[in-house]
Amino acid sequence: MSASKNRQLLLKEVPKGKLGPEHFQLNETDVQQPGEGEVLARVRYISIDAANRAWMQGTTYRAAVKAGDLMAGYALGEVIGSGDPKYKQGDLVFGDCGWQEYALRPAPEFTKLPALEPVTHLLSVYGVAGLTAYFGLTDIGLPKEGETLVISAAAGSVGSVAGQIGKIMGCRVVGIAGSDAKCEWITSELGFDAAVNYKTEDVHSALRKACPDKIDVYFDNVGGDILEAVLFQTNANGRIICCGMISGYDGELPLNGPRGIPGLLVVNRILMRGFIVTDYMAKFPQAVKDLAGWVGEGKIKVREDIVEGLENAPQALIGLLHGENLGKRLVKVS
Ligand SMILES: NC(=O)c1ccc[n+]([C@@H]2O[C@H](COP(=O)([O-])OP(=O)(O)OC[C@H]3O[C@@H](n4cnc5c(N)ncnc54)[C@H](OP(=O)(O)O)[C@@H]3O)[C@@H](O)[C@H]2O)c1
Repeated sequence: MSASKNRQLLLKEVPKGKLGPEHFQLNETDVQQPGEGEVLARVRYISIDAANRAWMQGTTYRAAVKAGDLMAGYALGEVIGSGDPKYKQGDLVFGDCGWQEYALRPAPEFTKLPALEPVTHLLSVYGVAGLTAYFGLTDIGLPKEGETLVISAAAGSVGSVAGQIGKIMGCRVVGIAGSDAKCEWITSELGFDAAVNYKTEDVHSALRKACPDKIDVYFDNVGGDILEAVLFQTNANGRIICCGMISGYDGELPLNGPRGIPGLLVVNRILMRGFIVTDYMAKFPQAVKDLAGWVGEGKIKVREDIVEGLENAPQALIGLLHGENLGKRLVKVS
């Protein structure tokens, strides 16, 4: 029997300061059947991303999420109805399904995914997180064997994969994370060479100690003061991969730091470049092949942090912004 009701979460109010549960509202609608050219998917897992919070701050590479909107979010779904011959019942699809149980979208807004187990890997190592780590390093950072690679938010979904790829590329890899348990995990389980707890250590001196040859490549997930600390210790011809700046997402702009960028970039010929993972869509198949090879060989360990139930998505995002997650955070919807 097909479901008739669709639970969803709306952004009730755009937060001015920190995001809280009061900014969301549970809503119920009818499930609509797909018309010609549309696909109806049952949402299985929602990807909880730092970017979800950034989308509330204004237009980015996508339209802003505004008060009253369905909360936006990438998800993995299973086709349960199709008005497009390219999609059939049971197909796995990826798209911006939003935070809801059923997503009805024009077919071109979905991407068909291969059936593999566990399916959650399609949102973690073979999804946005793994692909972001892969292209940030292989297209922008280009670390060479023996170079020092520093990664922030290192125990998160992008950072934990980036560090392991850095080891595969032969680098000395130093992670920056927000707890001793995270530092312990990335060094003892994931093979990072050293870790810095930015909440309890002085980042400048801890980095000096962890990077005796200074820093060649920085995978920046956080921006702000940590970016500033790294910039002052980056070698000539260093590369900074500007992946994100989570330290500025959950509150009011402007960000802290970094100071001194122009002078340091000029004198040290440092490259600093941003990117959005979807820029590389045409190259995703090769990247997934490489990532799957490394996972198969045990060179990349995948950690998923799964929260049960659509109604817990707001808390899952709030928790991620506070550093609760280890690895890729997902919400299991069905
Ligand atoms: N450019 C792209 O295409 C692209 C694609 C995907 C993601 N991203 C970016 O990648 C970064 C990671 O995002 P994600 O969704 O994968 O989340 P994640 O890394 O799985 O989780 C976010 C982590 O950030 C850390 N954090 C939170 N506030 C911080 C602060 N003020 N300073 C330092 N660390 C902080 C927390 O860990 P601690 O305990 O260590 O604080 C938290 O666990 C974000 O900047 C995101 O925008 C970019």
